[in-house]
Amino acid sequence: IEWLAVTAVLSYFLGAVPFGIVMARLFRLGNLRTIGSGNIGATNVLRTGNKLAAFLTLIGDAGKGGFAVLMARTTFGEDAAQVAALLAFLGHAYPVWLGFRGGKGVATFLGTMLALAWPLGLAACGTWLAAAAVTRISSLGAIVAAASVPFWALMLRPEAAFLATVFAVMVVWFHRGNISRLRRGEEPRIGRK
Ligand code: G3P
Repeated sequence: IEWLAVTAVLSYFLGAVPFGIVMARLFRLGNLRTIGSGNIGATNVLRTGNKLAAFLTLIGDAGKGGFAVLMARTTFGEDAAQVAALLAFLGHAYPVWLGFRGGKGVATFLGTMLALAWPLGLAACGTWLAAAAVTRISSLGAIVAAASVPFWALMLRPEAAFLATVFAVMVVWFHRGNISRLRRGEEPRIGRK
């Protein structure tokens, strides 16, 4: 039970580091909450026009998830890796620093999946990139990727299917605002403010 508590707490606080907010500070990009969608993710950082900051947000938010999983795995083993993935994801979505109002978890989800089961992670990243490239809408790419992940898991890594499905449901839920905008045809395309 000790390994469980240690993994959960460390992963949560790692996941709760909001790289979008950090980058917005470092690059003096203004308040992300009043820009674009108000989200703290890489997509919204991109709306400030700073591609490097957006890229670093993506890498940071994905990397913290991956790092949590790898740390937990090397220290405590495979069960801990799954716990780390879940808690890092929840930390990103509900960070204590931001009054529990965090991000939509796309980058963190992809990072944890890559570390947890890389074939599954690669399939998720590929789906995300392909869907975003075709539609030019970041949220749609994320929703398609999330929805595809349970199926990829069943094919590539059945033992990860449960966690992948939990993540998929949450990612889609976090995009409910985007989904209503998509239905109204008001969701902005990548590269536009
Ligand atoms: O990573 C979140 C992305 O899928 C959508 O972001 O800012 O367009 O709501 P945003």
